[in-house]
Amino acid sequence: MPSPLKLEELVQETRVHRRIYLEPEIFDLEMERIFESNWVFVGHESEIAQSGDYKTVVIGTQPAIVTRDENRDIHVLMNRCMHRGSTVCQDNHGNSPVFRCWYHGWTYNNRGELIGVPYAEAYGSGFDRRKFSLIKAARVACYRGLVFASLNSEVEELTDYLGNAKYYIDLFMDLSPAGEVESRCGTHKYGYDGNWKFQMENGVDGYHPNFVHQSFFEIQGKKLGRRVMQLFTGNAEYQSKDLGNGHAILDMAPKQRAANRPVSNLLRGATSQASRDAYLSAMLERYGERRTAEIFAASNVNLAIFPNLLIIGIQFRMTIPVSAKRTDVHLLPTTLKGVPDEINVARLRAHEAFYGSAGGGAPDDVEMFNRCSEGLRVKAAEWLELSRGIDREYEDENGVIVGHITDETPQRAFYRRWRASMLSAAQPQQHVAKLRVAPTA
Ligand code: FES
Ligand SMILES: [Fe+2]
Repeated sequence: MPSPLKLEELVQETRVHRRIYLEPEIFDLEMERIFESNWVFVGHESEIAQSGDYKTVVIGTQPAIVTRDENRDIHVLMNRCMHRGSTVCQDNHGNSPVFRCWYHGWTYNNRGELIGVPYAEAYGSGFDRRKFSLIKAARVACYRGLVFASLNSEVEELTDYLGNAKYYIDLFMDLSPAGEVESRCGTHKYGYDGNWKFQMENGVDGYHPNFVHQSFFEIQGKKLGRRVMQLFTGNAEYQSKDLGNGHAILDMAPKQRAANRPVSNLLRGATSQASRDAYLSAMLERYGERRTAEIFAASNVNLAIFPNLLIIGIQFRMTIPVSAKRTDVHLLPTTLKGVPDEINVARLRAHEAFYGSAGGGAPDDVEMFNRCSEGLRVKAAEWLELSRGIDREYEDENGVIVGHITDETPQRAFYRRWRASMLSAAQPQQHVAKLRVAPTA
């Protein structure tokens, strides 16, 4: 372990040490105790909609393949030939019933079973193909189309792990009158020279937009003919929430949902009245008036699922740690099933306006990650401060800790779980929201 500070001292209730962003030893331990011990997001069912479809992912830093077999069952196979170690699949995605290793031709079906060995007669009689199946992830589970895998067979049930976050995932999926979203329009990819935790902190950071995204808001303001700058800081209703287990949300409609006020201007300006009417009537038919209003009120979302999934706007965002100082990010924009095409086109155009490498806002976040990486080289300043809102947040009746949207409640949630995971060997994780210690003075 690095010294002189011990691991348990590096993350405290309202501050974290610079070393957790920089040191390879800590990164290696994160892979083992977080990414290889928890559930991690590996994609959406619609990415592998047909039998034979597959996509490649990494779990922590370990390569894997997510497949759908002819019975439509989903498998997560480690992408490592059982002969001498080559990956057996190099494509990002595709459709194939088999994976043939290019090195010596060993061939596996999409359930991972070894079905072909070239010149097999040279192997002795004791050679048993069945012992050479691709390694499978210990657990695979789906929630509302989101596919999660775990390398830890003892991991808790996915629905328990998601806990309070399920309500918000449901709201996101229920924006479709068919109750299903799809992610089939490609992947936006970018990377940055910095630690993976910067991205996870930032996805639910309501303090930064007015500054980092000032230019975007100014341009939007000019287009709309009004100021949109004080969106976050000025709105007393907007909240940040620690949902437990490291999950967190920026909740921009808590009072609207409580009052069941419909948000009728959804996508106004980008779609025709006829499309919006068709969408609304499909929603009312499926969900009724109360639930439709509740769903529409929640249509602007920033939700973090520990450790690697963000649901932001219309996208699933996968954070992919590469090393302590390098991270890849994949954005999976979604479309809604059962709505006029015009609605989905408007959603995608709004997404592209802000997100991705050519978006008007997201590159500014990445610039901040780069600047933080550079600034953290200063050794004399050891700590990053995360105390904002500590004295005004409160715990509601569900054990959810609620802060103002600009508070660092989500970041404290993330690091509470980070700390609990890092201090335990691979084992089932517990809901940690309740383990919160009293605020420090
Ligand atoms: S390493 Fe795959 S067949 Fe030899
Ligand atoms: Fe941002």
